[in-house]
Amino acid sequence: RPVSLIGAPTDIGAGARGASMGPEALRVAGLQAALEAHGLDVLDRGNLAGPPNPWQPPTDGYRHLPEVVAWNQAVHTAVHAELDAGRMPILLGGDHCLAIGSISAVARHCREAGKKLRVLWLDAHADFNTSVLTPSGNIHGMPVACLCGHGPQALIEIGGTVPAIAPKVVRQIGIRSVDPGEKRFVHQVGLEVFDMRYIDEMGMRHAMELALATMDANTHLHVSFDVDFLDPEIAPGVGTTIPGGPTYREAQLCMEMIADSGRLASLDIMELNPALDVRNKTAVLAVDLVESLFGKSTLMRDPERRR
Ligand code: ARG
Ligand code: MN
Ligand code: MN
Ligand code: MN
Repeated sequence: RPVSLIGAPTDIGAGARGASMGPEALRVAGLQAALEAHGLDVLDRGNLAGPPNPWQPPTDGYRHLPEVVAWNQAVHTAVHAELDAGRMPILLGGDHCLAIGSISAVARHCREAGKKLRVLWLDAHADFNTSVLTPSGNIHGMPVACLCGHGPQALIEIGGTVPAIAPKVVRQIGIRSVDPGEKRFVHQVGLEVFDMRYIDEMGMRHAMELALATMDANTHLHVSFDVDFLDPEIAPGVGTTIPGGPTYREAQLCMEMIADSGRLASLDIMELNPALDVRNKTAVLAVDLVESLFGKSTLMRDPERRR
């Protein structure tokens, strides 16, 4: 399937400025050429437009809510248009609040096309806060809750149906920072979370086998990749670093197993913050991992035999 890159250059939902430069850093790191080297047909649609970041404190538990709504509407429209055209959208963030627009578009497309949806959320954070639970007011800490129908009306209804998704379609991987109220809420709705303790004890392979289980030929797999998923030793260029994340090898295996599933149909690459990076190395690493996500492997191998 042909691929479309969509830049969303904003840090409107984040607690640090700089993720607005993420799309260009991914382009400079060679994302399009890397995908084309795998034989993919890639179009760069350029950047979406939206309001500037006014850098205001939160009001009523939300920072920049009207601007977050405007950006997510633009993302929703652009991602849905690519899916309708039979193309695979890759959203270049931008902060993770934009997953509301992206995943609501994917969910709407799945409803229209009669497809089942699976969302893999690769992140250090659960992003399941609400205006009363959030310690920061930053909406990049709330997208999964909004998609599940818990959030301000203007954000939860972007896809036309509320909730956009059910918690049971989500699998979270790599989680290691959840706020106290958020923790209770994640438990209450029954989100399926493979946190770092699980990965330590059971291994990335087992976590991914379960996260990818029970998909079939009619399943649309969406991957929402928050770059802070990765250990900050290898990926410093993000606004909210949390130590103890997946190593380079664990992250590669995660991506390779998603590729082997053959179901990947849309992708977000989020939270890359070039202002905090070192010579663009986090962007280069993200591109390297995305190559594995699209099937790059060391040798020609038979997934059934694992060699
Ligand atoms: N849990 C924290 C908050 O809600 C951090 C969220 C970080 N989210 C992200 N997409 N990086 O403020
Ligand atoms: Mn459609
Ligand atoms: Mn995160
Ligand atoms: Mn996130």
